[in-house]
Amino acid sequence: MAFELEALPYASDALEPHIDKDTMEIHHDRHHQAYVDNLNKAIAGTDAENLSLEDINKHISKYPAAVRNNGGGHFNHKLFWSILGPNAGGEPTGELAEAVKSTFGSFDELKTQLQNAGATRFGSGWAWLVVKADGQLAVTSTPNQDNPLMDVAEVQGTPILGIDVWEHAYYLKYQNKRPAYLEAVFNAINWDAVAQRFQEAK
Ligand SMILES: [Fe+2]
Repeated sequence: MAFELEALPYASDALEPHIDKDTMEIHHDRHHQAYVDNLNKAIAGTDAENLSLEDINKHISKYPAAVRNNGGGHFNHKLFWSILGPNAGGEPTGELAEAVKSTFGSFDELKTQLQNAGATRFGSGWAWLVVKADGQLAVTSTPNQDNPLMDVAEVQGTPILGIDVWEHAYYLKYQNKRPAYLEAVFNAINWDAVAQRFQEAK
């Protein structure tokens, strides 16, 4: 069965002023759509057509580069839209807040580590908060459209937060100022959605 692009779970201008409407529309309607279309082309007629997106990513070393790039691209963007939202920002609460404190010492330290992971990723890629196999939280980054689910990732785990640091995620509004985008995007993170993923991943 072919993969499909779901509509954004909020209006394309809902993340203004942190992430602008034009960026959201081009990012979702064109870039994400292209990952979905190219993933479907890459798996057409292969066994991967019967697998979930998660299973394809987990066994990505078995597949050609087109599946890695576009299967990663589809998974990563799907996750990205789901952990952003209007009237968001702030800090996590509940069990996730406790886990952040015990792992990183404070929310500010987690934020700093995520921003550093994104800012120092050369070229295109992602910054991640993951739950590792031992249940511990970790910050990592991946190049291109790789992600921590992939069996080729340096740090593997279940991603519960991903921040897209490809230029297409910020260039219209922030131009070359990736750190400014990495500050602004925190005002659009829906920590309740991240906390839900944390519960599911544990
Ligand atoms: Fe992107």
